[in-house]
Amino acid sequence: MKIKWHLSALVILSILAGSMAGRAETLRQAAERIGLLVGTAVNPALFSNPEYARTLAREFNMVEPENVMKWRVTEPAKGKFNFGPGDQVVAFAGAHGMKVRGHNLLWGKFNPEWLTRGQFTPRELRQMMKQHIQTVARHYRGEVFAWDVVNEAFDSDGRLSHSIWLDRPGIGLARQGTAYIAQAFRWAHQADPHALLFYNDYAAEGIDAKSNAIYAMVKKFKQEGIPIDGVGLQLHVVSSRALPRGMAANIRRLAKLGVEVQITEMDVALPIDSNGTASASELSRQAKIYAKVARTCAAIPACTAFQTWGFTDRYSWLPAYTMGKKGAALLLNADYRPKPAYDAVIDAFRQALQRDRQIKERRIRFEQSVSER
Ligand code: G3I
Repeated sequence: MKIKWHLSALVILSILAGSMAGRAETLRQAAERIGLLVGTAVNPALFSNPEYARTLAREFNMVEPENVMKWRVTEPAKGKFNFGPGDQVVAFAGAHGMKVRGHNLLWGKFNPEWLTRGQFTPRELRQMMKQHIQTVARHYRGEVFAWDVVNEAFDSDGRLSHSIWLDRPGIGLARQGTAYIAQAFRWAHQADPHALLFYNDYAAEGIDAKSNAIYAMVKKFKQEGIPIDGVGLQLHVVSSRALPRGMAANIRRLAKLGVEVQITEMDVALPIDSNGTASASELSRQAKIYAKVARTCAAIPACTAFQTWGFTDRYSWLPAYTMGKKGAALLLNADYRPKPAYDAVIDAFRQALQRDRQIKERRIRFEQSVSER
């Protein structure tokens, strides 16, 4: 009877511990040993789900709101700000010793309708852009340690995308290229001089027209004293193509300009069946892609964060976006169990430490050099 009781207690315990049992350390522990932030996009509406909250706090030391610090949520009506959901993210992070990455202060897409349909003049837009950036950055001063100040401003050919902020109608700087972006960084810096300020984009990981344009912008900003501290490489891997070549070279050339690089939104979309499941061979292909990015980031001191766009396949933007064709893109499956990709990322972090026992100190030194700018 007693033995039976012990056995069932053991079974319950191992269920409670999930399938993390038997793993020597969590992602968070492995990342902390190399001085790396390991983060995920989050939805505060899910914090009341115990499994979501428990897994999040155990595995990550950084969170970024997936949607709730965007214009649509933070300024739902002109001049009326809503910080409730973002504040929940800050509170969760505070309770679990995590950092908060802010996303984002300015984007040409997914803006509220009052803004996009408002027929404002450049002068009005300039004023609204300043007020929004500064009200949000001030509200989170001292709580958000890094902001994506401007998100996705370039096309794949390296030209600036048309947007309400650049030229439709823009804030009065339409013919001056990246000047509107520079202005966003200046205003953000005025509002929170201690936050790290990032430019964030997708499909610009390797060396190509788009990443060259971003590199040229950062170089120019540095020469002109525009307060930029980092570049976010999103790393949404959506097609079955291999990762772009030259990611390490791209990170290194940005580092030479004196900015940090963070992997900000990684996920690797796989073909899924009607249950949302991917095949074993696809899961192992996915693990290799995650491993490569995590290894590259972990080994370079200027790469200061490795973040995924969600952590459980239960909640990911991809199935809705691809009409059910793709998903299974994250490190844990829909039941919060680790996938091959999870182990691959931890292994990558461990290898970085084995290869370079000083990697943590090097990363800290790089971060100090950036924040002492
Ligand atoms: O909350 C509403 C819900 O009330 C409504 O019923 C439903 C119907 O469409 O929409 C819900 O809002 C959706 C929201 O996600 C929350 O799920 C929006 O339609 C949808 O457009 C929005 O998509 C987000 C998208 O950014 C646009 O903001 C995705 O969740 C989010 O993952 C995605 O994240 C972006 C990054 O910000 C920038 N980089 C690319 C990345 C992926 O697209």
